[in-house]
Amino acid sequence: MADTSELAKGYTLLNSTQYSAGLFLLSRLAIPPGSHVLNIGCGPGDLTAHIASLVGPTGSATGIGPSPERIALAQKLTPTQPNLTFHLGIAEDLSRFPSGSFDVVFVNSTLHWVEDQPRAMHEFARVLKAGGRLGISGGPGDYTTAQERIMAEVMSREPYSAYVEEIPSRFLKRREMEGLLDEAGFSQQGREIVVNRIVKVARDGEAMIEWLDASSGGKTYGGISVGSPLRARAMEEMKREWDKVTSEEGIRVEMELLVTVAVKE
Ligand SMILES: C[S@@+](CC[C@H](N)C(=O)[O-])C[C@H]1O[C@@H](n2cnc3c(N)ncnc32)[C@H](O)[C@@H]1O
Repeated sequence: MADTSELAKGYTLLNSTQYSAGLFLLSRLAIPPGSHVLNIGCGPGDLTAHIASLVGPTGSATGIGPSPERIALAQKLTPTQPNLTFHLGIAEDLSRFPSGSFDVVFVNSTLHWVEDQPRAMHEFARVLKAGGRLGISGGPGDYTTAQERIMAEVMSREPYSAYVEEIPSRFLKRREMEGLLDEAGFSQQGREIVVNRIVKVARDGEAMIEWLDASSGGKTYGGISVGSPLRARAMEEMKREWDKVTSEEGIRVEMELLVTVAVKE
């Protein structure tokens, strides 16, 4: 990732959209006190800390994520909550956790960044206890959002098109999600997939891009590295595209998140 400590700090201030989506997923999971929960792609740890308070002192919340900048912020939260821990790592390799060690695996606004999604799903199944539950909330793979359209359109122009993103994000369509769950051994019984309709509101194009950049750990500009002057140029072009869809009230992007709860056999 092209993450920086500024983007990581910025995410904590700007992530109300993802935080609310996480609360919706938590309402679907209704996690009982005493549960042991693994939060995949925990970012700066605010949702993991909330989960730690939900499960109480007999439960635990563990966060894992690949960004040292975000894990460093998250680790600042642990002294106040003894049942809260964070680790640097990726969804595809949960080998630090023994099989059958969690009641719930929680994945909010993260799966689209995971390079090897089938492998990650197998890892989620492995670390869950029998009867344990996987909760995933993520962007819509069944249609293209305004932000995907604008990013793709600008990044297809010269000279940006030469900087191909190493690992592009990939939202799952509903049937792809079903296929991955089946393949990883999640039961069809008790599986629930619902749509969470949300609206992302931003003051203007600049605010929208700031949110996208903090949310993606700097991946708004394809393969253009952090510090390259091309980023500022691409950002100006993206802002002009957002201006076209900005009204007096600012920008409103309606999104349908796919929210999945599945049970390990
Ligand atoms: C939009 S943020 C969501 C953070 C948090 N889950 C939330 O809901 O606020 C996406 C997160 O995915 C993480 N991520 C990216 N690739 C990952 C991977 N392979 N495994 C686990 N997490 C990953 C990033 O570090 C980032 O924190």
